[in-house]
Amino acid sequence: LARIGLKERRRNDSLGELAAYYDKIMSRVDYERWSMITTAMAGLLPKPFVHLDAGCGTGRLLRTLERYGWKTFGVDLSSEMLRAGRKWKPKLSVAAADLRALPFHSRFDFITCLFDSINFLLDPVDLHKALKSCANALKPGGVMYFDIVTEQMVVQHYADQTWTERQGGLNTTWSGQYDEKSRIARTVVTVKNGPSCSILERMHQRDEVEDAIARSGLELVGVYDAELWRKPAKRALRIDFIVSKGNVKAHRKALRSVESSVRAYLGQRTA
Ligand SMILES: C[S@@+](CC[C@H](N)C(=O)[O-])C[C@H]1O[C@@H](n2cnc3c(N)ncnc32)[C@H](O)[C@@H]1O
Repeated sequence: LARIGLKERRRNDSLGELAAYYDKIMSRVDYERWSMITTAMAGLLPKPFVHLDAGCGTGRLLRTLERYGWKTFGVDLSSEMLRAGRKWKPKLSVAAADLRALPFHSRFDFITCLFDSINFLLDPVDLHKALKSCANALKPGGVMYFDIVTEQMVVQHYADQTWTERQGGLNTTWSGQYDEKSRIARTVVTVKNGPSCSILERMHQRDEVEDAIARSGLELVGVYDAELWRKPAKRALRIDFIVSKGNVKAHRKALRSVESSVRAYLGQRTA
């Protein structure tokens, strides 16, 4: 793992070969939770607003947001992921772009970047570049909602483990490794009678993320354990961050009612 070359780190399109199978493999993933929190965030935004899903993959979130009639776009580094998304919806409003160098200036009121896309940035420099580029793409007062998976997730569920699962009619074998020094996790996913690909993700520390937020001209509005929407404990597996480009006091106030509705929603699901 320590021998991951600079080129591989720079252009981490590790899902490219898996793209055509991605939606089937992820068919049991709970996109409704992201969709609920994303739409709840509308309480912080001006009306009408423009939304960007950065690291949109095959556009699963964009497709769930359609029912709300939002003006929404997606970008992703992987043309293969975008192509796979267009198979489901030919007119999906998406384009290829790198999170670390988004070609937008003051264009969006709201950016989402979910399901670990931030973990695909393999060092703290890229993490900072990406948040700075998102800050630049946001309008003043704009809001961003992103998440990361934590080292706890990898250590508990992936490192040194191999398993087989069946999702969306496909059999896949998964094998995880974790290098604590570089904080990089490699997951090799093999589709039966299909490709085998190696997914690289860095387990950024919460402090590193908060430092990158502050250095990017963004401010922290709220940070939550994604499962509970409470203050993240050390054992949190996924962390949700809400940040803004200014107007932080008003956003913090408005986020309180979002918190209550998200907690009520999460509570219903576990009841
Ligand atoms: C686990 S997928 C999540 C995709 C999508 N958000 C979803 O919920 O299905 C991570 C995505 O981040 C994209 N990605 C990784 N590095 C990126 C970068 N530097 N710029 C833009 N997208 C990137 C990958 O191509 C991939 O589609």
